[in-house]
Amino acid sequence: MQRTLILLKPDCVQRRLIGTILSRIEQKGFYIAGLKWIHITEELAAKHYADHVSKEFYPKLLEYITSGPSVAAVVEGPEVIATIRKLTGSTNGLSAEPGTIRGDFSVSTQRNLIHASDSQASAEREISIFFQENEIFSSNHADKMIIFNDQEREVL
Ligand code: PPS
Repeated sequence: MQRTLILLKPDCVQRRLIGTILSRIEQKGFYIAGLKWIHITEELAAKHYADHVSKEFYPKLLEYITSGPSVAAVVEGPEVIATIRKLTGSTNGLSAEPGTIRGDFSVSTQRNLIHASDSQASAEREISIFFQENEIFSSNHADKMIIFNDQEREVL
């Protein structure tokens, strides 16, 4: 069973879209295995966005991501990393497909509401930045049987 990290960024919190976005993820059938409020500090931002700290846009990204509280979540399910990226849509809300979270709620590259890990390695690294293992609660056996199981995939 895969896990991924999402951040509901400060604009999501300010625009009262936490419930809407978590609902979309739950409605798809994925499981929220970890959830916390966090006001991201400069140090945490530099760790999380390590690949981007030298980029031209980083100072603006840093100012924005530290500007208010965010929500961090671990989401669990089959192929959840790639599927959440599809639900999220491309970086720029203006060009993100309608039907995706950014396509429906964002017109910006910076204020694009949600971060989602882009690979297995990123997911593992990012989850370990925001969560201790004992803060993550996997879905139980019955839940997996009802929601995740299908004929093609062994999930238990
Ligand atoms: S890149 O350069 O292609 O790797 O960047 P990308 O994957 O599209 O974006 C990485 C994160 O940086 C944010 N970003 C920006 N913020 C502010 N200004 C500008 N111009 C900008 N361009 C990209 C973008 O929202 C991504 O944030 P996360 O949280 O990872 O989705």
